[in-house]
Amino acid sequence: MSIAYLNGTFLPLEEAHVPVLDRGFIFGDGVYEVIPVYSGRLFRLDAHLRRLNNSLDSIRLSNPMSNAQWAAALEQVVAENGGGDQSIYLQVTRGVAKRKHNFPDETHHTVFIMSDPLVDMPPSEGVKAITLDDIRWQLCHVKSIALLGGVLLRQQAVEQGAAESILLREGYVTEGAASNVFVIKDGAAFTPPEGPFILTGITRDLIIESMQAANLTCKEAQITEAELRNADEIWLTSSTREILPVVELDGKPVGNGQIGTVWQQAWDLYQDYKKSLRAHEIK
Ligand code: PDD
Repeated sequence: MSIAYLNGTFLPLEEAHVPVLDRGFIFGDGVYEVIPVYSGRLFRLDAHLRRLNNSLDSIRLSNPMSNAQWAAALEQVVAENGGGDQSIYLQVTRGVAKRKHNFPDETHHTVFIMSDPLVDMPPSEGVKAITLDDIRWQLCHVKSIALLGGVLLRQQAVEQGAAESILLREGYVTEGAASNVFVIKDGAAFTPPEGPFILTGITRDLIIESMQAANLTCKEAQITEAELRNADEIWLTSSTREILPVVELDGKPVGNGQIGTVWQQAWDLYQDYKKSLRAHEIK
């Protein structure tokens, strides 16, 4: 049984309960993070805590803990669950209050952390994706727990035998239902720029950083629907899926329908980073 953290207490997940009037349950009024752990080490913790802070600022909710307190609580959850590889989920809500839309006069945050198994991603065979209209709101940069848009979009992909929906807003690619998107043309990688229509992925940022450090072309740029459909390669990136090559889009092959050579280079860089983290060579 896994050990969770709820408002200062470490306890078995099955014993962690939240009152029904929690604004997370009633309104989806909260934010979250998903942090992979390799050999007991939290992946890019500083970046995750920075993004958490930005999400909290955006929904005008104070941060209930300092970074040092977050690190201590997260590290204890990792240790209580045996170290190794894990996927850590954390959530902060505006807490329990009588149901009314506006903020309560006094806020008692609910802070929850749990651990799930992290399955190491093998070199991929490639996946299918579909395109859909981005029906979500205009604050996609906030990692909000109100995920109904993403849930409905991912479900449509799964029902069509695909791994992900790639979303289009007014003719431009935004991201996947729960991932970022990269498009590769003539050896260069492009991903949509930061802004209100995408969540800035920690995986995405590391890929940009490590490709540029390796003198590979990787840039932020608007991507049109036509560019997506003419891509040599398409990748999906996230903390739990790493870098997933898409070999079929809406039933048609992407490029030559095989995993691309640029994907292989990016994947190798990502695996090198994980290796250094596991070996304590980087923070
Ligand atoms: N989601 N965009 C969206 C909408 C996402 O939900 C996610 C990740 C990403 C990628 O972010 P990162 O690289 O930091 O994981 C982009 C997580 C994994 C989830 O909701 O489970």
